[in-house]
Amino acid sequence: MSKEKIWVIGASGQIGSDLVVELRKIYGGANVIASDIKEASEEVMQGGPFEHFDVCSVDEISHIVKKYKITEVYNLAALLSGTAEKDPRFAWRLNMNGLFNILNVAREGFVKKVFWPSSIAVFGPTTQKENTPQVAVTEPNTVYGITKIAGERWCEWFHDKYNIDVRSVRYPGLIGYKALPGGGTTDYAVDIFYHAIQQKNYECFLSADTKLPMMYMPDGIRATLDLMHAPQKDISVRSSYNLAGMTFDPKIIHESIKRHYPDFKVNYKTDFRQGIADSWPQSIDDSVATRDWGWKPEYDLDSMVDDMIVKLKPKLIK
Ligand code: SER
Repeated sequence: MSKEKIWVIGASGQIGSDLVVELRKIYGGANVIASDIKEASEEVMQGGPFEHFDVCSVDEISHIVKKYKITEVYNLAALLSGTAEKDPRFAWRLNMNGLFNILNVAREGFVKKVFWPSSIAVFGPTTQKENTPQVAVTEPNTVYGITKIAGERWCEWFHDKYNIDVRSVRYPGLIGYKALPGGGTTDYAVDIFYHAIQQKNYECFLSADTKLPMMYMPDGIRATLDLMHAPQKDISVRSSYNLAGMTFDPKIIHESIKRHYPDFKVNYKTDFRQGIADSWPQSIDDSVATRDWGWKPEYDLDSMVDDMIVKLKPKLIK
């Protein structure tokens, strides 16, 4: 029997849809409590307990922590970059209060370990664009980026001040097949697969040569679990670790998808998300994560594209 009781907040989102399933394989269905304000996938709903829950409510947090005797929390609830830009007040409330509430509950001593996702969005136009180091200029000019850099500072503060075992990675754009694209700037690289499989063309909201750091979801989940399972003494970064998978632009992923769908066309019509993408790095130096907990990605562009199509096709073409 697992002595861990794990709570995943944001279980119907992009990361949660995959992470809950993997955590349940390790800890057992009953020991991983999924929650969200909206229903999650069938796989998540049927694999173990689910609670309808709003991370902004402190009372509800304490209630669930006590009800299940929660020992670890993965707090994934957030508005992504595109959506956050349209509703800054709500983005601040959700992205910040949620984290702050969880860290305060951890301080009361019930929860032993916390995971919180940060992002390449902590970087901004003044950051070195290529091979961005772990410690770099962090002057984000997006609402999402502002919440993420503030969150990182809180994580480090709660660790230093109260010894909370909080761990975090700065995810690049994540590409997965379980959840629909969720309002992020990097989500064109998820959306493009739906169009390649179901239609013959895609209108991309970023320009053809917009290079961004990306990662296939199985690598993202493995990174998360490896970090959470690493011995405390090996964790030297309590803000958030840089994490890298691959770098490509819309033109390059289009070429890779064309290996499967030769007639697939992409045309380009940029919108406000182009400005967000232009403010972010193109590639990331994740050598500190490699040194501290052995991080190494497995998927490159073509192996990711091949697997995405194999997994997504049966879901879309019945
Ligand atoms: N994928 C996120 C977004 O585009 C970045 O972390 O909003």
